[in-house]
Amino acid sequence: MTKSLNAIAQKLMSPGQGILAADESEGTIAKRFAKINLPNSLDLRRDYREMLFRSTEAMTKYISGVILTEETLEQSAADGTTFRAILADADCIPGIKVDRGAFPMPGDSGEKITEGLDGLRQRLVRYAELGAGFAKWRAVITINDVAPTRNNIRANAHALARYAILCQEAGIVPIVEPEVVGDGDPGNHSLERSAQVTGEVLENVFKELRLAGVDLSGMLLKPNMVLPGVNSRDRPGVEEVARRTVDVLKQHVPAAVPGIAFLSGGQTDEEATAHLSAMNQIAYKPWPLTFSYGRALQNVALRTWAGRRENFPAAQAAFTHRAHMNSLAALGEWSNEADRAAA
Ligand code: G3H
Repeated sequence: MTKSLNAIAQKLMSPGQGILAADESEGTIAKRFAKINLPNSLDLRRDYREMLFRSTEAMTKYISGVILTEETLEQSAADGTTFRAILADADCIPGIKVDRGAFPMPGDSGEKITEGLDGLRQRLVRYAELGAGFAKWRAVITINDVAPTRNNIRANAHALARYAILCQEAGIVPIVEPEVVGDGDPGNHSLERSAQVTGEVLENVFKELRLAGVDLSGMLLKPNMVLPGVNSRDRPGVEEVARRTVDVLKQHVPAAVPGIAFLSGGQTDEEATAHLSAMNQIAYKPWPLTFSYGRALQNVALRTWAGRRENFPAAQAAFTHRAHMNSLAALGEWSNEADRAAA
């Protein structure tokens, strides 16, 4: 079992490839659609995902795996072909988001705890039967006047570890995602604070993973980059973000982990690409670094599609361009000029 988990993780981290996070919950996709004045209907959700998954060039060259939802894991395109078959044709591994979302933590610290452990063991058996090779669970860590609390960090780290060991038991690679979110208050969420909190969170997560008996060679980490909060006055350059992020990861992430695939976390498309490329230009890292982006891969494609099947080719070209740029970033070979020229 260990060997195959590691083999899946390695394949997801194939050089120049990354993961498409297309696991927006119904509530989240509703928000994305609302921004372009579309209703959140089953047909439109299907069409949108079909547009992405049938972007043959992007999916075959630049994307190694796709995080699906329960809906899409069992869904078919308009012509009846299952999404799983479309992904298999592109040699992409299907993954599944298995958490049930982040809910308010008891108390008044403004923090969240991710739910979804009850019944997870049984659900994972079903997902494995449907061909899911990996899974995702996202923990949300908040920075404010009183947060993060030790209680919240420990509770989220513990849940991540329980999820991860259940995945491995089912033969599924867990993607462990502790996200320090960036909407903290000014003054609370500087670059420095981000580095300190990210480090503390990772330390606790790996402590719990070890306690739970998780095989570190059969998982992937999906962290935030070390960035100031959106309202912070800090404006670090690309190289500084890259250096601080790699420094924190080196301090807290064991070398046994086969790879790190970042979330984009509300960065602009170009920022997310530039930061990843800069990190990959830093020498002596024990793990490969790639992308597992949602918004930073989909923003332009979503707007270009605009709910119309006749826009598929243009939307797919936009998606392919972004996937290509992030592929270059995963190799440390992206440049702004190349991005603009290719666009
Ligand atoms: O859980 C978060 C998603 O998988 C990644 O989304 O890249 O838009 O932050 P994002």
